[in-house]
Amino acid sequence: MTLNYKFPEGFWWGSATSATQIEGAANEGNRGQNIWDYWYEQEPNRFFENIGPEITSDFYHRYKEDIQLMKEVGHNSFRMSISWSRLIPGGRGEVNQEAVQFYNDVIDELLANDIEPFVNLFHFDMPIELQHEGGWESREVVDAYVDYAKEAFQLFGDRVAKWFTFNEPIVPVEGGYLYDFHYPNVVDAKRAAQVAYHTMIASAKAVEAFREFDIKDGKIGIVLNLTPSYPRSQNPADLKASHVADLFFNRSFLDPAVLGEYPQDLIDILKEYEQLPKTEEGDRALLKANTVDILGVNYYQPRRVKAKEHQPNPDSPFLPDWFFDNYEMPGRKMNIYRGWEIYEKGLYDIMINLRDNYGNIESFISENGMGVQNEERFLKDGEIQDDYRIEFIREHLKWLNKAIQEGSNAKGYHMWTFMDNWSWSNAYKNRYGFVSINLEDQSRSLKKSAHWFRKVSDNNGF
Ligand code: BG6
Repeated sequence: MTLNYKFPEGFWWGSATSATQIEGAANEGNRGQNIWDYWYEQEPNRFFENIGPEITSDFYHRYKEDIQLMKEVGHNSFRMSISWSRLIPGGRGEVNQEAVQFYNDVIDELLANDIEPFVNLFHFDMPIELQHEGGWESREVVDAYVDYAKEAFQLFGDRVAKWFTFNEPIVPVEGGYLYDFHYPNVVDAKRAAQVAYHTMIASAKAVEAFREFDIKDGKIGIVLNLTPSYPRSQNPADLKASHVADLFFNRSFLDPAVLGEYPQDLIDILKEYEQLPKTEEGDRALLKANTVDILGVNYYQPRRVKAKEHQPNPDSPFLPDWFFDNYEMPGRKMNIYRGWEIYEKGLYDIMINLRDNYGNIESFISENGMGVQNEERFLKDGEIQDDYRIEFIREHLKWLNKAIQEGSNAKGYHMWTFMDNWSWSNAYKNRYGFVSINLEDQSRSLKKSAHWFRKVSDNNGF
């Protein structure tokens, strides 16, 4: 068969998910609470249709059936996360044997089906006890995280080679400390900077710990949501706005994770506005010595910015937005359900930037996808006809393929997500999966995109 877009041999085809979004069984198996369980108890109204994280997609009970479906959808790899509060309820101390059993079972089942597990340690889900101690603002919580990471390497490192310290570590910073969409709903940039900094220190310390384990073919990485900043125009004021947005939202994690140091321009801004976090002696050397082996790139949307129209109110809380306004480009293509622009070439731009400025680090697309509301309206003969999703993936893959042709070190493509899952405060509003979930009875069915993806994976291209 002749293919127009062929991918390198051994390309990773699969999808990604996270513990809180699919496992359910929140009150089973001795699991502890995380910030989502707690926040839902406090403010259920903050969640779409008041649906909380207790049951979600019931993967805890149905993982066997789900892994069979992954096979049908052509997966050779799958990223999951471990729930810290399931493995170590309360965040510190005794390991929960029921959790060990569960994750062992899932990992073994994946391997038995020739699906390589990629395991992430933290996906927005801080154990509530540790959040009450200050969460990532506390250096003691960093230590607790490193102990948890070591436990996980010890328990599962005999079978899991690819590890990730964090998924999108900037999101809890934005959501929890700047823009009020995650617990603890603080708006305070200095505290946000501390949270970001400690997260990065935690990641470097986990990388350092990982190197002590003798994990066969072991690689440790981080998953970042990279959002290229496009200026409205080439006017120097617009260019400056996009440079600053890039510093805050991409380079704040990308540079320390891959290059082992923070961009000086970012430090200068935070210094000028008195927002620098507390640091400790030895941190600089720690970051420099413990960069990641592999980078997961989550890409959904670009960020378009322009120079600010008005001076920010000096009495308002300091925010990154003091330096730019968002720009709505006329003619942009939108995913209206999520309110995110679709710009496929952004993926290529990211990969070329990694090639040219980040040592062409080994990478893969660790999330990319399209959430759509009321997908039942596309049901025909028992199958959701999600042609829009096929088009979305195909067009992104074309740009990824071009980047690879031009030397990008991209090794795979994981979709967000395998099956419809619980999307934080949006709950089940937007559906992202290859597999549709009927929330009434938890039954699963493949969408049209699942069959299409299977063929792409089988042919290693299209
Ligand atoms: C990423 C996250 O931000 O995007 C996922 O890693 C998330 O956890 C996904 O679900 C889609 O975003 P949302 O907010 O629509 O669920």
